[in-house]
Amino acid sequence: MPVIVGIAGSVREGSFNMKLLRAARQLQPSGTSIEIRSIRGIPVYDGDAESSEGVPAIVQELKAAIAAAHGLLLATPEYNNSIPGALKNAIDWLSRPGADIPRVFGGRPVAIMGATPGQGGTALAQAAWLPVIRALGMAPWFGRRMLVSNAAKVFDAEGRLVDDQVRERLAAFVEDFATFAAQRRP
Ligand code: FNR
Repeated sequence: MPVIVGIAGSVREGSFNMKLLRAARQLQPSGTSIEIRSIRGIPVYDGDAESSEGVPAIVQELKAAIAAAHGLLLATPEYNNSIPGALKNAIDWLSRPGADIPRVFGGRPVAIMGATPGQGGTALAQAAWLPVIRALGMAPWFGRRMLVSNAAKVFDAEGRLVDDQVRERLAAFVEDFATFAAQRRP
């Protein structure tokens, strides 16, 4: 069964990106499992702490989950037209030590989606991730785009995806990415 690790780049209780990830999990095609992992609790990257104490257990555990998965699904907020620092910080820790990058990230299918209450759908944040994905040697999937604008109207107060058009697009996005991930990592 293809397993996809889903990570939202926000630890906010009402995060639209976490809501988007949960909606993706609800729409996961049969035979695919989206496992949502949190970046909450990952400390700020500190080379001194890495030298003295090594990679924190919370990061090692997430590294192992990604290394065992067929693919990685990132739900990214957009901050100041770019990557949100908390998620970049998490990825930076996950890339340590550098010798583990091929095992954790190398050739691993990755898809990026994102939600914003604004108009731009996180297009700029998604584009800003591309050099990072390339640096890690991942296998990006560009089959569809998942840009969610006006997120406050797309999700209700309970976090349910209430926009039929977005739901349709998300279902196709998840299904096609799962197919890609399964083919790349049978
Ligand atoms: C934002 N936000 C934002 N939105 C956007 O579409 N483009 C942007 O450039 C920015 N910039 C930005 C900077 C900072 C510092 C903050 C705190 C916010 C708004 C952002 O999309 C909104 O807070 C989302 O709700 C964040 O995602 P989560 O937490 O809902 O997943």
